[in-house]
Amino acid sequence: MKEGLEAIGLKMRFPVGKGRWLHALDGVGFNLAPREALGVVGESGSGKSTLARVVARLADQTDGAIRFDGADIGAVPAARFGRDPARRAIQLVFQSADDALNPAFTAARNIATGLGAGVRDDRRVAEVAAEVGLPAEHLGKRPHQLSGGQQARVGIARALIADPRLLILDEPTASLDVSVQAAVLKLIDALRRSRDVALLFISHDLDVVRLMCERIMVLYLGRVAEIGAVDAVLGTPRHPYTRALVAARPGHGRRPLALAGEAQSAIDPPEAACLFHTRCPLAVDRCRTERPLLRDIAGRSVACHRAEETAAASQAVSEPAGY
Ligand SMILES: Nc1ncnc2c1ncn2[C@@H]1O[C@H](COP(=O)(O)OP(=O)(O)OP(=O)(O)O)[C@@H](O)[C@H]1O
Ligand SMILES: [Mg+2]
Repeated sequence: MKEGLEAIGLKMRFPVGKGRWLHALDGVGFNLAPREALGVVGESGSGKSTLARVVARLADQTDGAIRFDGADIGAVPAARFGRDPARRAIQLVFQSADDALNPAFTAARNIATGLGAGVRDDRRVAEVAAEVGLPAEHLGKRPHQLSGGQQARVGIARALIADPRLLILDEPTASLDVSVQAAVLKLIDALRRSRDVALLFISHDLDVVRLMCERIMVLYLGRVAEIGAVDAVLGTPRHPYTRALVAARPGHGRRPLALAGEAQSAIDPPEAACLFHTRCPLAVDRCRTERPLLRDIAGRSVACHRAEETAAASQAVSEPAGY
C-alpha cells in the first residue's frame, strides 16, 4: 500500500452550453507523502479550488483516480463520501472562513460540525479551540461577532477536530490583513508539525509557499506546468510560465516579465498543444502541435518541450538568487 495521497490523471470538465466544455482540470497528477506540504500555485482560473474540491470529495471528477493511503477514494461518489471512513482523514479549509462557517451557529457549534452533523463534544471543542489559539470566551459567539483572524481559527479548528491526516487549505489567509495573515500561517505551520499532518496548500503567494511547503506544483489552465522541490522550482524555474510567475513576485524589485499574447481559453482547449504557447516567449511550432508531457529534468518535473533551453534564461531572471 502506498501511503499518502496519489492523484492520477484528474480531469474535471464543466458544461458551458452548446456542447462546449470548460476544462478546469486536464490531466493533473501528483503524489503527496504523509506529513509533506505541497504548495499549489497558478493564476486565477487555473483549477486550484477545483482540485481542492475533487481531492476532498466535494465534487466528482470527470476522469482520473485518487488514492489515499491505498484506498481508491476517487471511486467513492462525492455524495456518498460523507459516510466513508476516509472522510475525517481529509479536511478542507475554505478560501474564506466567512463563507465556510454557518452564520447561525456559535463558534463552538461550527467547530463541532467537523465531527459530523449533530455530534457534540464540548471537551474536544475546548481542546481544539485552545490548540488554534481561540480564547474560550469566543466559543459562544457567532461568526459575525468574530474578527477575520478568529474566523480563520474557527475554520482550522473545525478541520482539526476530525484528526485529519491531510489538510487541504484553499488560500486560507487570502481575506486577512497582512499581520493577521502572518499569525495564521505560523499557526498552520506549527499545527502541521505537532499534528503530523500533510498539507495541500493553495496560494497565490510564492513567498508564502516557499515558507510553508517543501514542494510546489504550478498549474496552468488545469494542467501541471512544473512540480518539484520548492528550492529547485522557484530558484531555477524551468517552465517559462513558472519563470514569469517568479519574475513577477511583488516586492522583489524586479520587473514583471511581460507575457505577450492572450491566454488560451479553457473552453475546449486544443489537446495536442502546450496551452501556454500563446503567451510563451520560447514557443516554437512543436508547442502548437504536441502536448508536452511532464519530464524529469534538473531535480523536478516540467511539461515544456524547451525545458533544457530555459535554464540559461531562468538564471538571468532569478539572479540574484533570492531563493
Ligand atoms: N461549477 C462550475 N461550473 C462551471 N465552471 C466552473 C465551475 N467551477 C469552476 N469553474 C471554472 O473552472 C476554472 C477553474 O476554477 P477554479 O475555481 O478551480 O480556479 P482557481 O485556480 O481556484 O482560481 P482562483 O485563484 O480565482 O481561486 C475556472 O475557469 C472556473 O470558471
Ligand atoms: Mg480558487
